[in-house]
Amino acid sequence: MTSVAVIGAGYVGLTTATCLAHLGHQVYCAEASAQRLDLLCAGISPIRELGIDELLRDGLASGRLVFGRDNAQAARSAEILFLCVPTPQGDDGHADMSFVEAAVSAVSASLASGTVVVNKSTVPVGSAQRVMDLIGRDDVSVVSNPEFLREGNAVYDFLNPDRIVVGSDDRWAAMRVAQLYSGLRAPVLITTARSAETIKYASNSFLAVKASFANTIAAFCEEVGAESDDVLRAVGMDRRIGAQFLQPGPGWGGSCLPKDTKALVAMGEDAGYDVALVRAAIAVNDAQYRRVLARVTAMAGGCLQGRKVALLGLTFKANTDDLRDSPALMLAASLCAAGAVVRAYDPAVAAGSVLPVGGCEVARSVYEAATGADVAVVATEWEEFSRIEPERLALAMAGSKVLDTRAVLDRGAFVAAGFRFAAIGSPGCATPELELAL
Ligand code: UGA
Repeated sequence: MTSVAVIGAGYVGLTTATCLAHLGHQVYCAEASAQRLDLLCAGISPIRELGIDELLRDGLASGRLVFGRDNAQAARSAEILFLCVPTPQGDDGHADMSFVEAAVSAVSASLASGTVVVNKSTVPVGSAQRVMDLIGRDDVSVVSNPEFLREGNAVYDFLNPDRIVVGSDDRWAAMRVAQLYSGLRAPVLITTARSAETIKYASNSFLAVKASFANTIAAFCEEVGAESDDVLRAVGMDRRIGAQFLQPGPGWGGSCLPKDTKALVAMGEDAGYDVALVRAAIAVNDAQYRRVLARVTAMAGGCLQGRKVALLGLTFKANTDDLRDSPALMLAASLCAAGAVVRAYDPAVAAGSVLPVGGCEVARSVYEAATGADVAVVATEWEEFSRIEPERLALAMAGSKVLDTRAVLDRGAFVAAGFRFAAIGSPGCATPELELAL
């Protein structure tokens, strides 16, 4: 049992805290927001993560998980201290380190001699050294231990990792952090701090490149008359390639892939290297969202002014309530800007919520969103959408056009119900002329 402090109870920090308590460690988790803290102390998770409520309740009941506001107190009791604060994208594409810097200055004087400080948040290459310099003590070590947690599946990913990466120029400190995970069955890679930091950016960038490749092949299929469902399924069956992250869609989003790919490109520029492949993946992603917009415009008859669009899904992917950098939300903004009347539905967004997109209403159900709509667009792959009844949707809508950007609907059932059905990567979805103008 190790005494651990976690600074920050966001989805990375709270997952780390609850899972380490579950593995038998004594965890103090410091959270700055009083509102979040009240919820946490009452055993209520402020984030939507599968399995986290149970771990939170177990941790509190066993006494192995304690929450508080005081970073310095967290630091005093810790043998190992995790920094899990946000590193949002700065104006120049680089990660904004101000939260990390503030957390470090709040704890550095209180750390006991021999404490290991861990960068868990995604931080630029060279950050372990920077944190070391900020702490300014030679009796404290800094280790990079990047997280590979998908939002919505973070608890599962923490407890069932493909690998654990621990990077430090102090091997003893790296081994101490690696031992925290001895209850898990996963290969542990001990690297330098710079390599561990790069592994995180390289992993997220590869995922982005792979998803952009899927969108590229889907667009190619639309133009040449092939079905990308079949093409990508077969491509993914090659074990050297693998089936995951080959699903075309409206573009990849969220709080990680967009920010980390841009940060990798910016760090490459700083180092005098053009990371052209990742730049291309970002460009394909921007174009993907414009392709979807062009398709909806064409389906609405070439002009969106006054057209009613039902937007099914708002979050950047299913099983999360996160709207940050969501392609669905970008689509909503562009549709509204073009004069469309957009009514959305998302299982994770309460009806009547005020969105950061002016003019887009949030309805209570798929069918309410679809009432009177000319076109319906599935933008997020919620499982609930696979259960939409085509006949009931047809009765609600004024028009009969459906665009499925996530391959969740049963095309045959919709065509049988009289819909004009389009899907990403299917020839019926070929680029309309008007996209060239966008
Ligand atoms: C991502 C990584 O998957 C995690 O390993 C990483 O730890 C995390 O970022 C992070 O840096 O913290 P996450 O942002 O939760 O996790 O989302 P993903 O599940 O990776 O999905 C990202 C985007 O790619 C979503 O918009 C999703 O819809 C899209 N996507 C995914 C596709 O368009 N096609 C696919 O086949 C897969």
